[in-house]
Amino acid sequence: MRVNISPMKNGEGRLFETHLDFRARILCPPEMIPAPGQYLLAHARGSDSPLAVPVFFSDSAPDGFLCAPLPDSSWRPGTQLNLRGPLGRGFSIPAFARKVALIVFDDSPARLRGLISLALQQDAEVVLVCNSVQEDWPEAVEVQPLQAMFEVYRWADYAAFDVARGNLPHLKENFGKADQARGPREAQVLIRAPMPCGTFAECGVCALAVHHNWKMICKDGPVFEMNELY
Ligand code: FES
Repeated sequence: MRVNISPMKNGEGRLFETHLDFRARILCPPEMIPAPGQYLLAHARGSDSPLAVPVFFSDSAPDGFLCAPLPDSSWRPGTQLNLRGPLGRGFSIPAFARKVALIVFDDSPARLRGLISLALQQDAEVVLVCNSVQEDWPEAVEVQPLQAMFEVYRWADYAAFDVARGNLPHLKENFGKADQARGPREAQVLIRAPMPCGTFAECGVCALAVHHNWKMICKDGPVFEMNELY
């Protein structure tokens, strides 16, 4: 089952603070806070940069949310942001899931972090597979290195992945149909790519070829069902 696309809004926000793990607290109206896997398009007011950048949810925070490491390192606390969103399709942990695997293929685990509290709320065990974990992960989460990926994948009844578009063929090679058949009952994949227009101008920069058809990561994703991709 997919998360519904929330009604998109325009609004204003502010970067309040940055953390040592490069996540940042964004202040914004509550109706603009993206769900895990969704994003906001953000543009710093007065910036020379012509393009907005996607900002992903990582965790809850007062008066806004904690976002995954910032795509634009020139932003500082106090930077005023023009925001649009929430955009895209997010993750959806099925109600039956009691063994949840969060698999970070090639980057920060921050974009999957928002799933932890949702999984724990439904009494699921959570295993994070990642080679770059900061120290402040909840104790309830077991952390395993990427070498344990297949083992954890087969243990899970729901798996969430985070992978760059360029590494998707690599992920597909690793999780071919035969493996998938022995994997969880449901798996979803967040695919990262530049998304400069966030569906508005249909620029095509985020295009993804799936079964000889084109999908737009900004609109059809960024979270896809694993079985859509095979
Ligand atoms: S970012 Fe422009 S179509 Fe997706």
